[in-house]
Amino acid sequence: MLDGILHLLIDHLKSPGDSFFVTGSGPHSGLRLCPGYLDRSNQEAMVAALCDVMREAPIYTPRMPKSGKPMSVRMTNCGALGWVTDERGYRYQPLHPDTGHAWAPIPDIVLAAWQTLASYPHPPEACLINVYGPDARMGLHQDRDEIDFAAPVVSLSLGDTCLFRIGGHKRSDPTRSLKLASGDALVLGGEARLAFHGVDRIMPGTSTLLPEGGRINVTLRRVTRPS
Ligand code: SIN
Ligand code: MN
Repeated sequence: MLDGILHLLIDHLKSPGDSFFVTGSGPHSGLRLCPGYLDRSNQEAMVAALCDVMREAPIYTPRMPKSGKPMSVRMTNCGALGWVTDERGYRYQPLHPDTGHAWAPIPDIVLAAWQTLASYPHPPEACLINVYGPDARMGLHQDRDEIDFAAPVVSLSLGDTCLFRIGGHKRSDPTRSLKLASGDALVLGGEARLAFHGVDRIMPGTSTLLPEGGRINVTLRRVTRPS
């Protein structure tokens, strides 16, 4: 789980749940990995809640801006705003692009992770749900479609382990890899809030959580500046 991140300052902070955090330094200060943040029963409960969301807001194939090239990952959202991408570009919008319906509310079990991990006094407005099959990946990118970057991005991983890559504020900055396993939480705050990151590959067969394999990643974000 900690392969490739020896550059990170390992900080064993005992929490009531006896979990520990790995925090970044330098360009990665504000990066916090919480391995095993969700235990198996909470992972199962979160998957059940996300399946309810996906019944209301079916997963769809996002497309790249301009070219319209389909991405390998499938997506849906919950919350007041959802992140979408197609020929018209990256954006947040209140309606599902296919059904035209408002997104479902963020399930309580997902909101609870924000409340515990974000150290931010306002609720998230967007919860992007990425669904990865065995061959899906996500290219290196920054999360910068939000109006305000004061809040962190909180990411939760479910199902098969992935190889996650994180760099600096420039695409050309050196990158490091870490594995994100089922139940792990990652917080991108501080300097790491605008770090380039992506998913190089999924490691099939590494988890029994999702009956058909693959990986679900949930990212919680604040989009607007609180008034
Ligand atoms: C994302 O950057 O939107 C997703 C990252 C991940 O799947 O871990
Ligand atoms: Mn991202």
